[in-house]
Amino acid sequence: MKPTFYITTPIYYVNGAPHIGHAYTSIASDVLARFKRLDGYDVFFLTGTDEHGQKVEKAAAAAGLDPQRFTDQIAADFRDMAEKMGISFDDFIRTTEDRHKVSCAELWRRIAAADQIYLGHYEGWYAVRDEAFYDEGELVTRPDGSKAAPSGAPVEWVREPSYFFRLSAWQDRLLRFYDENPDFIAPPGRRNEVVSFVRSGLRDLSVSRTSFRWGIPVPGDPAHVMYVWLDALTNYVTACGFPDPAAPRWHFWPADLHVIGKDILRFHAVYWPAFLMAAGLPVPKRVTSNGWWTVEGEKMSKSLGNVIAPRELVATYGLDQVRYFLLREKPFGGDGTLSHQALVTRINVELANDLGNLAQRTLALIARNCEGKLPERGAPTAEDAALLDASAALPALLRERLDRQAFHEALDEAWKVIRAANAYIDHQAPWALRKTDPARMAAVLRVLADALRVVATVLQPFMPGSMASMLDQLGVPADARMLAALAQPLPGGIALPAPSGVFPRYVEQAA
Ligand code: MSP
Repeated sequence: MKPTFYITTPIYYVNGAPHIGHAYTSIASDVLARFKRLDGYDVFFLTGTDEHGQKVEKAAAAAGLDPQRFTDQIAADFRDMAEKMGISFDDFIRTTEDRHKVSCAELWRRIAAADQIYLGHYEGWYAVRDEAFYDEGELVTRPDGSKAAPSGAPVEWVREPSYFFRLSAWQDRLLRFYDENPDFIAPPGRRNEVVSFVRSGLRDLSVSRTSFRWGIPVPGDPAHVMYVWLDALTNYVTACGFPDPAAPRWHFWPADLHVIGKDILRFHAVYWPAFLMAAGLPVPKRVTSNGWWTVEGEKMSKSLGNVIAPRELVATYGLDQVRYFLLREKPFGGDGTLSHQALVTRINVELANDLGNLAQRTLALIARNCEGKLPERGAPTAEDAALLDASAALPALLRERLDRQAFHEALDEAWKVIRAANAYIDHQAPWALRKTDPARMAAVLRVLADALRVVATVLQPFMPGSMASMLDQLGVPADARMLAALAQPLPGGIALPAPSGVFPRYVEQAA
């Protein structure tokens, strides 16, 4: 039996079109899902849309559509974005689906049956943009004197009957849980934030609303709809078939990894485990949070008109180029800026030159001088062995880096080998060996082909299309592209297809 791996993206609010921030979290999750599949895991990769709540209801009203029609349109657009970004999801969940309504109602009943929900009255601040309640002490004062959420979102004073979840009762259990599971929250700096938030004291959480209708009704009290975050977080168990213990995907629960943005860590690392513990369900193994992208150093905003649409970015630079850039440019947990110049430099230097040219030179020399057939392995020299050993170490290095969601470090390891291979080809100069020592030339080209095979294999999760093309050109059969297949060398003498460039240079359009 294969080991299982369950990974999720956040489910996206359908209040507007997808932007690069959404695409980023999904691409990062996709790289991990693909890597685990390559490493022999039975992967369940979930993405989807978060469709209830006041924020979506208001956006629908502004568009002059009823919420269901509005969410149908935008959810379809998010699904299209995921497909265009190469997101290899196994399921796309929408919180307006019946399976999710059933799941939420049952989770609520279990929490209520454990006496963890009571009826009361909420009076306090609410930010619709964040769909979050804030204490007075958390608010900031804007230059015009108005109050805002720490995120900058406007707040309004809300007074209404509400059900509460006894979050305060879970403080010690949560702290013990973080203590016993030091890897539950990543990166480590964020873990400290969460622990000190919980240690500073938890208040009971309002988990229902009565002032609008666009949500899942509270079981037994349809005047209330569930708080959108309780509804949204539940998506992760719905997709496993909750509450049916015989559902084909129930064995995937608990999730191995929730990939989220840093702004929604509290919901995932505090509220979600508390809800699950209260319902008597196992809690996820890890929550990892990414930093934010700005654009040319500025925050993305509709008013600045600098919101980056992922599909347009891909049309300009290419899909694998964008995926590579987003994961290479900044550490996952930190913030970074997306700039045209940085993108072009990485495309032209790292992809077109370092990797693309290396493959093109190697494959063209094989096509020209080895009758287009993969050379046999020769007896390795010390230089050959050094490059082969460095490439053979890559799968384990990437596995370790990616288990920490250190994407840029994983790519850096691959590029160390790529740079070593470039130094090797320059030093060995196989083109000069053609006349003097053709057997050695063939052996050198074979070392390069073997190193490139490893590099292309481990980079498949990052750049699936380009690496498939590179593996085709290297003569690697479709069933020999898993990490485990690297132990088996390809037979010499197989005919290779005519080489063709994988990474074109980005050329500036004339103004
Ligand atoms: N619906 C909630 C998530 C519910 S999960 C049970 C939500 N949706 S969102 O559409 O607003 O944001 C989804 C993700 O996009 C978040 O993880 C957020 O951090 C991420 N990003 C939004 N803007 C971003 C950037 N500018 N940069 C990087 N990621 C950002 O929150």
